[in-house]
Amino acid sequence: MAEARIPAEARAQAADLRERIAHHNYLYYALDAPEVSDAEYDNLFRQLQELESQYPRLRTKDSPTVRVGTSVSTPFRKVRHLTPMRSLNDAFSWAEVEQFRARVQRALGLEPDLVAELKIDGLAVSLTYREGQLAQGATRGDGEVGEEVTANVLTVDGIPATIQPELAAAMPPVCEVRGEVYMAKEVLEELNLSRSSQGLELYANCRNAAAGSLRQLDSEITRSRHLRAFFYACDPFPAGMDGQFDLLAWLERLGFPVNPNHKLLHGAEEVGAWLEQWRERRHLLAYEIDGVVLKVDRHSWQEELGADSRAPRWAVAYKFPPEERETKVVAISVSIGRTGAATPVAELEPVLVAGSVVSHVTLHNEDQVRLKDVRVGDVVVIRKAGDVIPELVRVQTSQRPEGSVPFAMPKVCPSCGAELAREPGESVTRCLNPLCPAQRQRRLLHFVSRGAFDIDRCGPAVLAELVERGLVDGPADLFGLTAEQIQQLPGMARRSAQQLVAAIRARRQPELSNFLYALGIRHIGDRTAQVLASHFGTLQRLRRAGQAEIAEVNGVGPVLAESVFHFLHSPGGETLLEQLTQAGITPREAAQVQGPWRGRTMVLTGSMTGFTRSEAEAAVQALGGLAASSVSRKTAAVVAGESPGSKLEVARRLGIPVLDESQFRWWLDHPEAEVPGG
Ligand code: IVH
Repeated sequence: MAEARIPAEARAQAADLRERIAHHNYLYYALDAPEVSDAEYDNLFRQLQELESQYPRLRTKDSPTVRVGTSVSTPFRKVRHLTPMRSLNDAFSWAEVEQFRARVQRALGLEPDLVAELKIDGLAVSLTYREGQLAQGATRGDGEVGEEVTANVLTVDGIPATIQPELAAAMPPVCEVRGEVYMAKEVLEELNLSRSSQGLELYANCRNAAAGSLRQLDSEITRSRHLRAFFYACDPFPAGMDGQFDLLAWLERLGFPVNPNHKLLHGAEEVGAWLEQWRERRHLLAYEIDGVVLKVDRHSWQEELGADSRAPRWAVAYKFPPEERETKVVAISVSIGRTGAATPVAELEPVLVAGSVVSHVTLHNEDQVRLKDVRVGDVVVIRKAGDVIPELVRVQTSQRPEGSVPFAMPKVCPSCGAELAREPGESVTRCLNPLCPAQRQRRLLHFVSRGAFDIDRCGPAVLAELVERGLVDGPADLFGLTAEQIQQLPGMARRSAQQLVAAIRARRQPELSNFLYALGIRHIGDRTAQVLASHFGTLQRLRRAGQAEIAEVNGVGPVLAESVFHFLHSPGGETLLEQLTQAGITPREAAQVQGPWRGRTMVLTGSMTGFTRSEAEAAVQALGGLAASSVSRKTAAVVAGESPGSKLEVARRLGIPVLDESQFRWWLDHPEAEVPGG
């Protein structure tokens, strides 16, 4: 039997790959929150494809190489597409593009013209028009069945609700116009800025932001996200039209936004030049593209080539490699954070990677440097993880200069000269001197940051000068600064100095939560600060509380409680609070939480399909409830999404009511009701 010839190892490997791909599909399609880069995903997919082509019997009907995407369970109505929305086969190199062209030529017996388009990095949508009226908008979903998002699609810039009657006459009476909805880079930047100031999770990239924005239950939210779209297909293909190139012109005439960067190409040279050109130019565009799509132009030839269940044979997506650049390590410095953590940083000869200049990259900690064996003088490969944060991929050891030496963590703090220490079993090395100037400056930076005192115009350079000139020692000193003093700083105009003083003054009565967060207490992030503020209401009450009482607060627990208690009752902490009081800084009493869920604590675990974690938390808070991170006897209910963690077991053990997503949703709509099923 052929089956018997598949080695167990291959079988296990295929199962493992499938499971991992399914997991990433779920994160990507259902949650819009991928954990791995596209390149890593593609790599898994590739491995599975290779295994399956080696052992064709491994290719089951439900393998991700056969199906598109994933079927998801969400609150949106499911709709079946007129014809499946297929995906595209990928080419990761010029050689693979050439293989595609050769296959097409063999099948047709000639070399066809190809239409080259940009591969827009957004999400595919299908718009159903009946007699020129938009009847429905849907996402791709699993390719056969998508989600109905008509109201949201209507908020996307440029999508026509009605086609002019004389033009509509030329449309198939019922047709699906298909394209890509995307978010412009600038829009994402602004959206993330505003989300970060509200303490919300940031979108990792334009595609996730577009997908998250289109799949909102409230179309006003979608509208506020300024989505756009480009269209490139119509199903059924309009009669009497020659091919893809004409189709694009026709779609444009009908009023659909069509990407202007497309071209009819013939032969290897023209195709090669186009790919090359866009690999370089992509960063100049206002939106993200992740490759170029090549399509056989003539429709009759497309028909002749046909499609398999996943993708057409007449098109290919050339995917750009994640941009990697080589540069040289000119130094390895050690940066001291506000908690004293010493982080090695590779200082680089500046290099342009994926649209911005990178001049340093974190090496995380001593063990990481040793693992990658990064040395001064090395040529290294840099890329942007998820196209945002630069990372060091590897060292080109073959180009290592002679006489280079392995990195050693310095014995003393580069800022204050105090000894650096590393606890056994920990990966972090620390400077333990609380008076260390670097730590002080970082603490100041934290103090003025968003989520803390949020003081504008008070960046790292200004703070460094203020500390250097002895004008500021600790945060309280900021409030005594005069415009005359600030004006002494290099390059500081009088007006800017006055504005900085005004910005500082304006923050003398911060919210208690911002105040607590600003103190920079170890382990206390903005969430815990909020929990403490809304529980204790005033700083005085928090200072009077014992460690056990703080630990009792839902969402705090013993470790955080110890940290808070120790800080508030340490000489350093007491002095800081005293200095702030002297400077006239009084946190406002935390607003008493109102709403039907006041005093109720909810714990969310696992992932939900209709909310991101922060949206679910915001929904709880909007009703006056508290979203905590650990389950205790006082928890009102645990909401368990997909793959819930150990919190679910704790809840069961303690007899806390457990809700699934639909019960949770029901309760949000009926907040006065008792716990559903509780
Ligand atoms: S054509 C049957 N053209 O890429 C062919 N797709 O990886 C259908 N995409 O599902 C796709 N830009 O969401 C086509 N100019 C373009 C595209 C494009 C982006 C997306 C689309 C598709 C995915 C496949």
